Amino acid sequence: MSANSDKDFHLEQGGASDDSIQQVHAQLQKQKPDKANGYSFLPLGILGLMCTAVFFGSIYLAHYSIRFDPLVVNEHAKREKPGAVVATAVPPAVLGKKVFSNICATCHQATGLGVPGVYPPLAGSEWAQGDEERIIRIVLLGLNGPITVEGKEFNNVMAPLGAALKDDQIANALTYVRQEWGNKAPEVKAETVSRIRAELGARTAPWTAAELLKIGH
Ligand code: HEC
Repeated sequence: MSANSDKDFHLEQGGASDDSIQQVHAQLQKQKPDKANGYSFLPLGILGLMCTAVFFGSIYLAHYSIRFDPLVVNEHAKREKPGAVVATAVPPAVLGKKVFSNICATCHQATGLGVPGVYPPLAGSEWAQGDEERIIRIVLLGLNGPITVEGKEFNNVMAPLGAALKDDQIANALTYVRQEWGNKAPEVKAETVSRIRAELGARTAPWTAAELLKIGH
């Protein structure tokens, strides 16, 4: 007898026909629905890793979240574009250099040395570094007639620039003039220019040096 015929013998002995086997299978399948086979517990190792991640994540947040303070964690905050120039950070003298180069340098020269006998120098000038009220007036209404600058006589005309320039432009230009080429004098404020402009009232006539020397000190 072969092994095969042995098995056949046992099956037949148990009385298990094809039909009855199928019935038993069908019943087993009812008890254990296929769906259940889809579920399985996470391997313990992965579960452990996740718990550790959440644990250290919480510690990290407790330390560094700063309670999500809106003053710090603000996604709507405006950020400066890299390389952007912040207006308040530009010193007045730097802004004034532009006005000076565009307007004043035509006559007084970029060097501030002027033109001998024609345009008086600003570099080293006692007027430029003197009373701010005088030079603000000169820029606003212009200057006529004889003036002595650094011991040299000039007798020419400077045109009024008060209509062409705003108060802060005049202030910045004069601050530049007072702090460039070795000149040393305090900054001129836009408010001072505004005050003097208001004090001019209806006057449009240019100043004379003699008149200005009586104003201020
Ligand atoms: C069109 C030429 C011209 C321009 C532009 C000009 N000036 Fe003058 N400036 C003169 C002349 C000329 C005098 C002397 C006038 C005189 O002889 O009475 C003078 C005189 C002055 C003085 C007094 C004298 C001295 O040398 O210190 C100051 C300060 C001055 N100018 C500043 C300025 C500033 C600042 C600007 C620009 C905002 C300016 N000037 C633009 C021609 C000019």
